[in-house]
Amino acid sequence: QLIRLADYRPPEFLIDAVELCFELDPEHTEVSARLSIRRNPAVGQANGSLRLAGEGLELLALALDGQPLPPDAYRLDEQGLTLWQVPERFRLDSRVAIHPARNTALEGLYQSKDILCTQCEAEGFRRISFFLDRPDVLARYRTTLIADRKRFPVLLANGNPIERAELPDGRHRVTWEDPFPKPCYLFALVAGDLECVEDRFVTASEREVRLQIYVEPQKGERCAHAMQSLKQAMRWDEVRFGREYDLDVFMIVAVSHFNMGAMENKGLNLFNDRYVLASPQTATDEDFAHIAAIVAHEYFHNWTGNRITCRDWFQLSLKEGLTVYREQEFAAGLFSPSVQRIRDVRFLRAQQFPEDAGPLAHPVRPDSYLEINNFYTATVYEKGAELIRMQATLLGPESFRRGMDLYFARHDGQAVTIEDFVRCMEEASGRDLGQFRRWYEQAGTPELSIWGGYDPTAQTYTLHVRQFIPPTPGQLVKHPLHLPLAIGLLGEDGRELPVWLAGEPEPPAAGTRVLEVTESEQHFVFVGLDARPVPSLLRGFSAPVKLKDDLTESDRLFLLAHDPDGFGRWEAGQGLMQDLLLRLVADPKASLPAEFIEAFRHALRAKADPALIAEVLTPPSEEELGEQMAVIDVEGIHRAHRLFGTELGRHLREDWIAVYRDNAEADPSVLTPEAVGRRALNNLALAYLMRAGNPEGLELCRMQFGKGRNLTDVLAALRLLVERGGDDAEAALAEFYRRWSHEPLVIDKWFAVQATAPHRETLVRVVTLLHHPAYDPGNPNRVRSLIGAFAAHNPICFHAADGAGYCLLADQVLQLEPLNPQLAARLLKPLIRWRRFDPQRQALMRAELVRISKQGARSPDVFELVSKACS
Ligand code: ARG
Ligand code: ZN
Repeated sequence: QLIRLADYRPPEFLIDAVELCFELDPEHTEVSARLSIRRNPAVGQANGSLRLAGEGLELLALALDGQPLPPDAYRLDEQGLTLWQVPERFRLDSRVAIHPARNTALEGLYQSKDILCTQCEAEGFRRISFFLDRPDVLARYRTTLIADRKRFPVLLANGNPIERAELPDGRHRVTWEDPFPKPCYLFALVAGDLECVEDRFVTASEREVRLQIYVEPQKGERCAHAMQSLKQAMRWDEVRFGREYDLDVFMIVAVSHFNMGAMENKGLNLFNDRYVLASPQTATDEDFAHIAAIVAHEYFHNWTGNRITCRDWFQLSLKEGLTVYREQEFAAGLFSPSVQRIRDVRFLRAQQFPEDAGPLAHPVRPDSYLEINNFYTATVYEKGAELIRMQATLLGPESFRRGMDLYFARHDGQAVTIEDFVRCMEEASGRDLGQFRRWYEQAGTPELSIWGGYDPTAQTYTLHVRQFIPPTPGQLVKHPLHLPLAIGLLGEDGRELPVWLAGEPEPPAAGTRVLEVTESEQHFVFVGLDARPVPSLLRGFSAPVKLKDDLTESDRLFLLAHDPDGFGRWEAGQGLMQDLLLRLVADPKASLPAEFIEAFRHALRAKADPALIAEVLTPPSEEELGEQMAVIDVEGIHRAHRLFGTELGRHLREDWIAVYRDNAEADPSVLTPEAVGRRALNNLALAYLMRAGNPEGLELCRMQFGKGRNLTDVLAALRLLVERGGDDAEAALAEFYRRWSHEPLVIDKWFAVQATAPHRETLVRVVTLLHHPAYDPGNPNRVRSLIGAFAAHNPICFHAADGAGYCLLADQVLQLEPLNPQLAARLLKPLIRWRRFDPQRQALMRAELVRISKQGARSPDVFELVSKACS
């Protein structure tokens, strides 16, 4: 059933208080709920009946104001419960039975190993109790948990613990109270035998907060990084946004089975354990960075999501876009801002741009959905974050902060809309964001064409700007957007020039300037230029657009060498590599021009941050290149990518070896930005040497694998050995498995390395691995590390011309769907973009989608994606 934003109505009833009591048992849990319900005074009288959501609940008892309800007073169906006649204000008591151990969908109350835990966002609470399961119903919760003391010594829920008791039958009882009204999607409980790591944090106003991270037994040692990240995030939010934590205790629980990354339940964040547990031996530098970012993200939700929540699920980006933006800003301060921005832009281009160009394209604020779980997308999250970033850029830091302050002050304790947020930004800044709002309504990535012209007599330089937003499903006509275009102008020697607009009496200081684009076609005239400047366009990726400019190869080489902006140098290098790679796709005999090789040699030798150098020398991914082609040439792109690696490896051989020698002795246990950057550059050097077939490279690779003290290094070496194939590869895989078979998160990587190897035999290997004793379709991390990695990160094998990759994916989707529809729907995504490929592949991909829709697609999750893809 299609849900539409236009149909939003405020709730007819409100729930002020909720008392829950759980008698926990994996096989049979009983949930008693006492709801204090009253009619919403803001809504006129309707027919007097009350509808509550509830799925898979076995109703045991139901009473209104203490009177058991006779069967003719209500109706029960698959979706919930209707009470025919209810008073203005009443108490509803219900008792239901549920079965956590049988819950394979991992929504609602489920079991992960010996732990019972919950995931309620978006609509999981209705699998726990009958309720008004919508985010604009805010209630105070008191939660009592009763369970066997031996099996479940730790019993957690939202808020503060207020009472504990031992019961005579070997069970115990803990009651929690959360003083902050919240929507039910933020409810959580956890029960299990968990190890707890504790720390404390003193807030800016000197309140003491207990910090606790709960993990499976024996894993406590691996929480130090998550704990430190949490404390950094708490301080950062105080300093940057004036936001303090508000309860006496903040808890994180890590579990092995989790559909997503993590969840911001009030005071009790639940995490996929891969985003908590880390040591240099069991996690890569990338994992460490993800942990810091996600711990911060969930913590930041306490204000942007929990204290101020969403009115309805169409407003999801209100909390997610804003929180991703906050997370990105936090992460920028941990390492280098340029490198952080580069990674965020790579992610946006690889994940969000394709989404925006395909059949699932939707606005940051969608206007309809079948299954809300399908809208936890790169568009809602990452493009949503770009929209916040653009507002921050347009307003400037002071006004943006004032806008945020106003938002927190005005809407604390409310469930609001994106419109409410934008209005705060307008009021605090006095700016009109009327046109800017279109960003939230229009799907599709705008194409921005920019070309420049120098007039030597007038000494002016003119930039012509044109924007075009492609049509997307259901949105054929688009209107021009308001966007910030940050630019710099560089003189011959690489100096920043003043960006001086015609008509202005005096030049501004030299450096970046933000222009505002509002028309479909527009131009800017810059004066006081005695020679043609080289423009540095869209600095810091100031708007999420596809930029087409008229820069020449020598302009880009110049920017790669001289742009004072690190992001700008990277972007210039990406442009050069992209052009070259696309030329190689078209003509496999094309070669790397000498100036180009010299420019990269120069970049490699530059005295710059090693992490940035590594980014500059990493070409756009095969996926990103595909995006640039009318018809994605899978083989051509793969071949070009390899050739590029081989050639750059060969031409810069001495330099790569020197880089490796210079950086190799970094201490494997050190995680400073410096050490992390060195490892990244080192492993890039190793990759180029290996791709060039350099014997010294192979020697270094074997050595690096053998040392085995740091997972970043070991895994990089393993990946390269496996890519090369042969006996070395098999031996390394066997050795790696032997060493880490007791560490599931490391074994996930072992699966992924094999699933992403670009070999003819990979498909067969993936099929074999499906039968490996360590493969477990019930664990989402394991499924993603095998099937997900194969389908999403191994284009040459997944898109094998005979369609075997497609068939494998469809089989797996069909098998997983009845167990875990949310996971099945996510895995399916690589098939959705079938229209982007050649006719043969189109037919094969479409056939698999049709097969899924015939044999499966019983869940709204899979059904919605398949039907959108085929229409
Ligand atoms: N709110 C969580 C986060 O981004 C994600 C939860 C998504 N869950 C889901 N079932 N779709 O931090
Ligand atoms: Zn989030």
